[in-house]
Amino acid sequence: MNIPLSGPDITAKEIDAVVSVLKTTSLSLGPKLPEFEKDFASYIGVKNAAAVNSGTSGLHLCIKALGIGEGDEVITTPFSFIASANCAMFEGAKPVFVDIRPDTFNIDEKKIEEKITKNTKAILPVHVFGYPCDMIAINKIAKKHGLKIIEDACEAIGASIGGKKAGTFSDCSVFAFYPNKQMTTGEGGMIVTDDEKIDAMAKSMRNQGRDEGMGWLAHNRLGYNYRLSDINCALGIVQLGRINELLEKRQEVADMYNTALSGIKEIILPPGSTDEIKRSWFVYVVRLTQDFSQEQRNEIILKLRARGIGCNIYFPPIHLQPFYVEKFGYKEGDFPVTESVSSRTIAIPFYNKLSKDEVTYVSDNLAEIIKEVR
Ligand SMILES: Cc1ncc(COP(=O)(O)O)c(C=O)c1O
Repeated sequence: MNIPLSGPDITAKEIDAVVSVLKTTSLSLGPKLPEFEKDFASYIGVKNAAAVNSGTSGLHLCIKALGIGEGDEVITTPFSFIASANCAMFEGAKPVFVDIRPDTFNIDEKKIEEKITKNTKAILPVHVFGYPCDMIAINKIAKKHGLKIIEDACEAIGASIGGKKAGTFSDCSVFAFYPNKQMTTGEGGMIVTDDEKIDAMAKSMRNQGRDEGMGWLAHNRLGYNYRLSDINCALGIVQLGRINELLEKRQEVADMYNTALSGIKEIILPPGSTDEIKRSWFVYVVRLTQDFSQEQRNEIILKLRARGIGCNIYFPPIHLQPFYVEKFGYKEGDFPVTESVSSRTIAIPFYNKLSKDEVTYVSDNLAEIIKEVR
């Protein structure tokens, strides 16, 4: 057996769409870009969408579009992919961490207010592993203190709260399309917003600071090359057209795991959807119970890999990454819930094409290895 941790769901439709673009002269800045953006905005339920070449570039442009810079603070979570904190640092702003909730692994909304200072400009919540943050509470806090919100929805396409989609609860939000995501464009990201100015800024900055209609060598502001090619957009259009099918398949795999793993009392399973909250499954992450050490978790991972099962630690705490420790002086114990969760989590193989036999193989081996390591 060799079961990878993740894998894209690509059909002949995606291949045909990419090949058709290759047969044209518009490989970039062609018609597929606005088509993908229009489809995406309509799926999420927002006025504007700006495609970019990664989720990281999307987050960077949101920080810039909101005017966040030197000396400003952005409140966010230490339990995430590193880009959600780095994006503040790109502009000389400081990511200020708030510990997470042990049940959802998302930023603990009850601990946000105590971190607000006169320098705080924005809150950047991350819908970790596709489970939405409490955006109602976060919006109340932001409103009370006059703060902006950037939603990192990179892992949460299709998730919703009370029927309203993740990505619609903020000034601007970002989605990402790396191949391990629910839908992919190879590399890619999307900024969504109802604010025309933010959209125009994002579209200008992704294209070397050119404004709409300007010539190739005319630049109104500092910009970047964060463009997404028409090849990627064509792939995105087909994947987005299949999004309900893609999300349903992921739900089915999650259901298979929920059943197969339910008898292992040494692990806590990830929370699913409720009447109010719809989860979008990005990864399937189990957590060992409190009596397991980080060393035991690491040993379990090595043993799973030795049996051909792709798995990983999701996520190591951002504040303990070497350059965060060096720059901000963070140390172990600063964010105890994050550290505790982070030392016991294991992401196991999770993608649409995972078969029932493979789910059984992973689950049986996980159960067996946990007993061995105990
Ligand atoms: C929460 C989160 N934020 C940001 C990103 C960055 O996206 P990308 O890898 O497309 O730059 C990712 C992607 O892995 C992510 O999971």
